[in-house]
Amino acid sequence: MFIVFEGIDGSGKTTLSLELYKFLTRRGIKTLWTKEPYSQEVRELLLKGNLDPWGETFLFLGDRSYHVKTLIEPKLKEGFSVISDRYYLSTLAYQGYGRGLDLNELEKLNLKATGGLEPDITFILDIEPKKALQRIKKSRETKTRFEEFSFLSRVREGFLKLAQKRKNTFIVDADRSFYAVFGQVLEILDRLLTSKIL
Ligand code: TYD
Repeated sequence: MFIVFEGIDGSGKTTLSLELYKFLTRRGIKTLWTKEPYSQEVRELLLKGNLDPWGETFLFLGDRSYHVKTLIEPKLKEGFSVISDRYYLSTLAYQGYGRGLDLNELEKLNLKATGGLEPDITFILDIEPKKALQRIKKSRETKTRFEEFSFLSRVREGFLKLAQKRKNTFIVDADRSFYAVFGQVLEILDRLLTSKIL
């Protein structure tokens, strides 16, 4: 099973996805937790570099292609469940809705990068950018170039639109207590597993 967590910066994806990883592992389910951007080198280039929107996109896509081929696919084949903190919807939301690049073009390029590997389930953690930025401010000193109010507002709207047309993609209200959000994630997973959709 391939599970993806998406959402704007500060939405709590990392905490939630790691908690699900621990939950499944404790139940004896072989699980791998991973994230995008995957490679540390790419992450540093992206966060520090002054790339134009397409330059930035190609780094994310190259990173994704490497991630899928060298880690996600092999682990799924070995029978692991894989949880990824971000996947291709991030490129559509950030570079498409956020930076204004052509969505059809981005969809085609994503398809090449992923080889068509679709998540079985995607959780989009939804929160107002103002609140997300407050959370980020509390947890660290500096903001990255992706963490700006009007940009994150466009990205958030993008995620909400993207969720509408996609199968097994769920919007979860992330502006609640950790346990309320985690409880909803478990409830959705349980529903899909018991109805044998997954
Ligand atoms: P993030 O998951 O926030 O990393 P960290 O937890 O280390 O801060 O990812 C870094 C940034 O990259 C984040 O602002 C979102 C952005 N991003 C894109 O713009 N497009 C993409 O395709 C991906 C995967 C990430």
